[in-house]
Amino acid sequence: MSGHLFDLSGKTIVVTGGGRGIGRGIVRALARANANIVISGRGQGPLAETAEEVAAIGAPAIVVPADITSMADLERLAATALERFGAIDGWVNNAGSASPSDVGPLIGIDERQWDAVVDLNFKWTFFACQIAAKAMTRGGSIVNVTSRSASQPNPNTGQYGAAKAGVENLTATMAVEWGHMGIRVNAIAPGVVLTEQSTTQGSMKSESRRQRQIDTVPLRRLGVVDDVGPLAVYLVSDEASWISGAIIPVNGGSRVPVGYLSYLHHVNERMRAQENG
Ligand SMILES: NC(=O)c1ccc[n+]([C@@H]2O[C@H](COP(=O)([O-])OP(=O)(O)OC[C@H]3O[C@@H](n4cnc5c(N)ncnc54)[C@H](OP(=O)(O)O)[C@@H]3O)[C@@H](O)[C@H]2O)c1
Repeated sequence: MSGHLFDLSGKTIVVTGGGRGIGRGIVRALARANANIVISGRGQGPLAETAEEVAAIGAPAIVVPADITSMADLERLAATALERFGAIDGWVNNAGSASPSDVGPLIGIDERQWDAVVDLNFKWTFFACQIAAKAMTRGGSIVNVTSRSASQPNPNTGQYGAAKAGVENLTATMAVEWGHMGIRVNAIAPGVVLTEQSTTQGSMKSESRRQRQIDTVPLRRLGVVDDVGPLAVYLVSDEASWISGAIIPVNGGSRVPVGYLSYLHHVNERMRAQENG
């Protein structure tokens, strides 16, 4: 271990979905801990912007465009990281989302919508873990970004919560199966975190919905992307070397049943609005 707590100098960490939102916050935190960072995602513009931020902080980084729903892309991502930095010590599976057109009340979800959400957030997150583990020849730390949704009912985004719950369950199994390889597997479960996407086009666009969510949070604010990165830094650091199979919430203290009545009120209003067309 080096002199400073959480110093990641010499450690190589891959971040999927690292161009935007929470992923960019994670990359920023890793850069401040001086990791070698492999920033991945699909959108070239956001990746380049993130890389610029990392360069300004002064950490070594490369950009590897990759779609995690392609085995070939995942394999190329691992191979490129190994080629550039010689080893992979940490891998953060942050890529994931549920596009508004793919979610809704479960009664109407069709197979395409199910597959779009469950494949991205569950199936491909698993295969990314598997590829990461195979590449971690000197042990390592895998961090899956799940969600508060994994452990609560999710009216209107049901299959998303179920997919995240699946990742949390697999996180526990991978931690057991891969422990002897020196590989730790943990999950970070964020509550509502404001991102450019969620505040401009997504579920947090409306002020009243943001307020409803704030009402479920004991700390009385929603998350910002820089709330999540520091935990990722900790989980990939040597200081977390005895932490595995953990699901760690980052949510301002929000959980069922704290604030649940307020949340239910908000859900009921939305359901009523849908019923009334
Ligand atoms: N924001 C929240 O309130 C919240 C709460 C709990 C959990 N989470 C979880 O936190 C993670 C990040 O969420 P966010 O809100 O920051 O997301 P976001 O702003 O919607 O961005 C989604 C990220 O995933 C990447 N991504 C999506 N599909 C991908 C694919 N097929 N291949 C590679 N990358 C892909 C996107 O990059 P490109 O589009 O450029 O590829 C982007 O970086 C997700 O796993 C999400 O489920 C978010």
